[in-house]
Amino acid sequence: MSAPASVPTGLSVPRSTRPGAGPARPRPRVPHARPVTAPTPYGLDDLQELTREVAAEVRAGRHEVVVDPDRRWYRLLRSDGFVDVWLISWATEQIAELHDHAGSLGALTVVSGSLTERRWSGLSGLRTRTLRHGRGAAFPLGHVHDVANTADDPAVSVHAYSPPLSAMSYYDVEDVAGTTGHQRLRRTRTELVEPGQGVG
Ligand SMILES: [Fe+2]
Repeated sequence: MSAPASVPTGLSVPRSTRPGAGPARPRPRVPHARPVTAPTPYGLDDLQELTREVAAEVRAGRHEVVVDPDRRWYRLLRSDGFVDVWLISWATEQIAELHDHAGSLGALTVVSGSLTERRWSGLSGLRTRTLRHGRGAAFPLGHVHDVANTADDPAVSVHAYSPPLSAMSYYDVEDVAGTTGHQRLRRTRTELVEPGQGVG
């Protein structure tokens, strides 16, 4: 059985194995702040800037990064009740399936490696873009996407959500009968996110 590898930032990250060890359980290093009921002061630009700042901290070696070949690894770095900031690693072929972020705004910055995002764009279906290290993306309300590492090397990214994620819905894409190639989303399930326990 494979086990997570603690790796330096930088990052061409080797995978390692340790027989007998189970998959890592995401364990926040900082307590999750009690959600604040006031409107969030964070806009999309603020969240993007925040993820850029924290990504720079990761590149500077201020945060441990672990790559788990069995599942996405993530750790809560900051939580102030208005915003959660997560560090996520992606081994090759690891994916966050097609989802939304309920009532939260979000943003990410890629620290190392590259991520492929497919985002829902209406009748034209899913649009694909590659986010290489240093690049970012913002997630307005209603943003539906999947994110994957399709490259050979692991990827690392910093994500921020405000208000902190409270639920996520998941989707399939299906063809609209009687149209010429139009597609639509079909929600398959909705999951509540416990404070400090979920990223997407
Ligand atoms: Fe997401």
